[in-house]
Amino acid sequence: MCGIVGYVGTQQAGPVLLEGLEKLEYRGYDSAGIAVRNGSEDAEVVKTIGRLQNLVERTDGGKAVAGTCGIGHTRWATHGAPSKTNAHPHVSGNCTGSGSGRVESLVVGVHNGIIENYQELKAKLERHGYAFYSQTDTEVLIKLVDYYYRKYKVGPIDALAKTIVRVRGSYALAVMFKDIPDKIFVARKDSPMIIGKNDHETFLASDVPAILNHTRQVYYIGNLEMAELSAGKAVFYNLDGDVIEKEVTNIEWDAEAAEKGGYEHFMIKEIHEQPKVSEDTLHKYVFGEGKNVKIDLSEVGLTEEKMKAYSQIYIAACGSAWHVGMEAQYVIEELVGIPVRVELASEFRYRKSGILPNSLVIIISQSGETADSLAALRMAKEKGTETLAIVNVVGSSIAREADYCMYTLAGPEISVATTKAYTCQLICSFLLAVAFAKARGRIDEEQYRYYIGELLSLPGKIEATLSDKERIQWFAAKYANARDIFFIGRGIDYAICLEGSLKMKEISYIHSEAYAAGELKHGTISLIEDGTLVIGALTQSDLYEKTISNMMECKSRGAYLMGLTSYGKYDVEDNVNFAVYVPRVDEHFIGVPAIVPLQLLGYYLSVSNGLDVDKPRNLAKSVTVE
Ligand code: AGP
Repeated sequence: MCGIVGYVGTQQAGPVLLEGLEKLEYRGYDSAGIAVRNGSEDAEVVKTIGRLQNLVERTDGGKAVAGTCGIGHTRWATHGAPSKTNAHPHVSGNCTGSGSGRVESLVVGVHNGIIENYQELKAKLERHGYAFYSQTDTEVLIKLVDYYYRKYKVGPIDALAKTIVRVRGSYALAVMFKDIPDKIFVARKDSPMIIGKNDHETFLASDVPAILNHTRQVYYIGNLEMAELSAGKAVFYNLDGDVIEKEVTNIEWDAEAAEKGGYEHFMIKEIHEQPKVSEDTLHKYVFGEGKNVKIDLSEVGLTEEKMKAYSQIYIAACGSAWHVGMEAQYVIEELVGIPVRVELASEFRYRKSGILPNSLVIIISQSGETADSLAALRMAKEKGTETLAIVNVVGSSIAREADYCMYTLAGPEISVATTKAYTCQLICSFLLAVAFAKARGRIDEEQYRYYIGELLSLPGKIEATLSDKERIQWFAAKYANARDIFFIGRGIDYAICLEGSLKMKEISYIHSEAYAAGELKHGTISLIEDGTLVIGALTQSDLYEKTISNMMECKSRGAYLMGLTSYGKYDVEDNVNFAVYVPRVDEHFIGVPAIVPLQLLGYYLSVSNGLDVDKPRNLAKSVTVE
């Protein structure tokens, strides 16, 4: 989704803005632009389409644009095609051509989000003499700010307040006013935005990595809040225009955590970080050793009494986080004996059937900003249901709004295809399963310690799986031209397949589908032909023979078989053409090491085909629109 940045301080703004936008490239975009003001002069706007590098070249790394106050944007097209005209920044004045150059205008702004009632607002503004040059909702938003600023002759915060009361939708909005040099004004609702500050400079951005080279002092701006930013100063306001106090958060990540650190791509770096971040996540919630080892969720706020009281769990999430939910469903139902329903957040948010009483709704999200997941959370809260978020980004909307929050400690995940955050989400859901099972008397002390021991062994097992990566690399080279790939498995193996298949699709662009193994013969088996690659997940001993039979049905129709199973099950080679093994662990938790070969397969297929691994086409890291 779009990324926004802003800077006001003592340095030349252009290079700082471009550096910030570069750190947000992972969010996905198709055009980019900056607007920089030099004192009281009109803003100079530069916009380009395609890669950010085009904007870097156009502006000589930002140096060609004079001024110490500016805003920048990477656009992921929603309203209107990717073009220079539709690219941000947008201006309130009349504009000819693509909008680049020194633009005479009262208000210049950038926006991430969607204004749902923009057509109605556009018609209103047209009636008041405004003309529009782009197809974007953002131009309407900027012109609406201009309208209120002029009409009521109020200050910028009041004009912003009037604007946000009038619009429906989501926005992280940053604007500069011609008559107020060296200040940026921002407003936010349901789209991510953070404010950073040091003694002489103030920054705004969609995400923390964009400003980490300059400051670690960050403010989280809440929904329907606004701020006035000047060099080294940020003043926050509520919708009534009253000043509000905000606590500063010190970001503890390393700036290097958001760099490639010698790896060719973020994705492969993040795959290799999985042992470390799994360990960090486990040790956030597991304390003591030997007989005293225990899972402590007091920081999350979930007491044993609470865990005993729920009679139903819902899990709502999107994409890979939904796959975590699918896997958690099998594990929680088996260990805890409580019914679990897994819902796509985009569907759950509109469900009319209601939520059963005494339920817990778990929302899983790396970014904590996914629009559908956030809406699902709010819907559950409106119905009076308790909510627990499993989230990676500290201070994100979902983390702040849920009743309980369990953080994954994956660190910044830059690659659009999630790997390490997915693994940490799985680990959190397994920790919850074991804690619930213990609280509800489903397992005794000995079983409790056994499960915790197995969980603690996972980082080493991921490490061992990674040491076999060359075999996967070799296999990927052989299958680089594959047209269709089918993943089949049962139970937990089916959940593993869902994620393996998504990794394949999103970064290698190879069509792939995940099927519950027993379901294939009800239609989809007609697609199996000579040479079709069928990957069977075979980690669950009780379902092994069943899935092997389904794989054999494919083999007899010409399929080439890859089997993914655990050490010791070497007889799989009697049936499959290529076998991949992962270390043994309690089979409830084997999804953690078992996903690693499938992540690697997706990665190496993408690299073999020369694709943009970290920024696959059409995708965005954080999907903040519906
Ligand atoms: C996975 O690789 C995708 N990037 C995507 O499916 C992602 O998991 C989904 O959009 C949910 O994002 P979230 O975890 O930030 O809510």
